[in-house]
Amino acid sequence: MKPLQLALIGLGTVGTGVAKILTEHAERTSRRAGRPIEIRHAVVKNPDKPREIELPAGVVHTDVDKAINDPEVDVVVELIGGISPAREIVLNALKAGKSVVTANKALMCEYGDELFPVAREHGCTIGFEAAVAGGVPIVSGIGQALSGNQVTSIEAILNGTSNFILTRMLDADISYEEAVSEAQALGYAEADPAMDVDGTDAAQKLSLLMLLAGGTRIRPADFTRQGIDRLDLADLQYADELGYAVKLLAIAKLIDDRLEMHVQPTLVKYGRPLSAVDGPQNMIVVEADAVGKVWFAGPGAGMMPTASAVMADIIDAATGRAAETFRTLDLFGEGEPRELVPPS
Ligand code: HSE
Repeated sequence: MKPLQLALIGLGTVGTGVAKILTEHAERTSRRAGRPIEIRHAVVKNPDKPREIELPAGVVHTDVDKAINDPEVDVVVELIGGISPAREIVLNALKAGKSVVTANKALMCEYGDELFPVAREHGCTIGFEAAVAGGVPIVSGIGQALSGNQVTSIEAILNGTSNFILTRMLDADISYEEAVSEAQALGYAEADPAMDVDGTDAAQKLSLLMLLAGGTRIRPADFTRQGIDRLDLADLQYADELGYAVKLLAIAKLIDDRLEMHVQPTLVKYGRPLSAVDGPQNMIVVEADAVGKVWFAGPGAGMMPTASAVMADIIDAATGRAAETFRTLDLFGEGEPRELVPPS
């Protein structure tokens, strides 16, 4: 069968992870996708930079237009993050009839309502499993596996970088600044780490989860959002002595038709599952009317976990599952109206 041809836009931490899976596990991936998957273009800023993974000559280049307008390309995988130029690249890719896979939560959260109709108009799909909680399958978990439920509550650790920083400060007795540098070196942080530590990244992910949970569109600017950037080691040590972990929690609660949402550092009593989430891990505790309480947990950031989620979307594009999911998922449509109220 004809291979699925990819244009990777960005070959940083996550792009390298995707290229590794595709080259090191080509046989397994082709079997699951029902056809080979090939990287036809990998668009980068500097093609001469030494890389962990070697791609065939001519694949790595700087010409994004050439990649997205190549008639052989089926799927554009956007892995540069941020809004601009990612938004223009995704729009142009969709208009050129290419389906898109992205890990970009900022773009999905802020511009999904612009991008989804363009995708539909051009018969394309957008997969964004990697945009929320890295390797934890929460987009398909809430969007598909729990679709028979009304989600009534989400309590979550959604930013791996913040959770890593909080864990490292206390465990290694180091300052906030030292822990931020470690998170950056390990590839957990966004290109602009301010988005991680000021609560924006977690708020964007919570906003996307509420969309998946019923089409309710609440933008991060509309609810309280506070990050970990004003905490110091002494705050964590006092909380620890009193029997609490400090965690950056993202919370959404549906009470009748009123929705409470916020992101802020919270004292979580030791013994509760959320208190035991360490390092770049995420946990999402979902309560829903039919199933009750469900826990999703695992690596929320980093090369291979995020690449794992991107690969799932690529394989879905290859098999045609993405088209089916995209057709049925009611995202950025009418949605269910809810009144947003301040946390009680
Ligand atoms: N910077 C993000 C985090 C990466 O730390 O959670 C995964 O979205």
